[in-house]
Amino acid sequence: MDKKIIVSPSILSADFAKLGEEIKSVKNVGAKWIHLDVMDGHFVPNITIGVPVVKSIRKITDLVLDTHLMIENPEKYIEAFAYAGSDILTFHYEACKDQNQIKEIIAQIKTLGKKAGISIKPKTEPEKIFPYIDSVDLVLVMTVEPGFGGQEFMHECAQKIPIIKQNAPNDLIIQVDGGINNLTSKICTSLGATSLVAGSYIYKSNDYKKSIESLIL
Ligand code: DX5
Ligand code: ZN
Repeated sequence: MDKKIIVSPSILSADFAKLGEEIKSVKNVGAKWIHLDVMDGHFVPNITIGVPVVKSIRKITDLVLDTHLMIENPEKYIEAFAYAGSDILTFHYEACKDQNQIKEIIAQIKTLGKKAGISIKPKTEPEKIFPYIDSVDLVLVMTVEPGFGGQEFMHECAQKIPIIKQNAPNDLIIQVDGGINNLTSKICTSLGATSLVAGSYIYKSNDYKKSIESLIL
């Protein structure tokens, strides 16, 4: 098992009626992070969870709360998610109007003592995030259009990984999200991804341990 690869199970495909249990189940089989998909029905055509749910999750787990904000005006909500207990706050490049705003959001996240991530949708060129690559902790390369779990992996998006890696500091976490399974995970890690988000592949399986391990073995 490659210890350097961080798997972040996405609760989007979990059973929300027993969310606490679903989170504990992946922790029990070795997960260190849990991926929380926040959607606002504006930035993406779907609505999921918000601050109160993150706050409740914080109370029942010490896993790293890897929070993926698929929302407009992320600057308005970052403080609330930080206080709710998120450890990583990843916002979307496309949700911001200009460079200044992006720099301010990153600074805001850091001031709150959290790790900052920036994410790009499939149509966004990787070069767009170069100005921020030294000030973020994580870059999230979407390998599907954000909004829904269970979509098919977009191979062309994975080609952004080496471009980012070549221009990034060594400790930058390069995360992929969307359509990750035991095969697409290997494509991404061989190109330089160091964190794998997987929702349906883990939570729709009948063996969480086996599915998590198969992403990295
Ligand atoms: C989609 C979300 C993902 C989603 C991935 O917009 O950002 O985190 O849960 O789901 P799968 O792994 O099923 O593609
Ligand atoms: Zn996500």
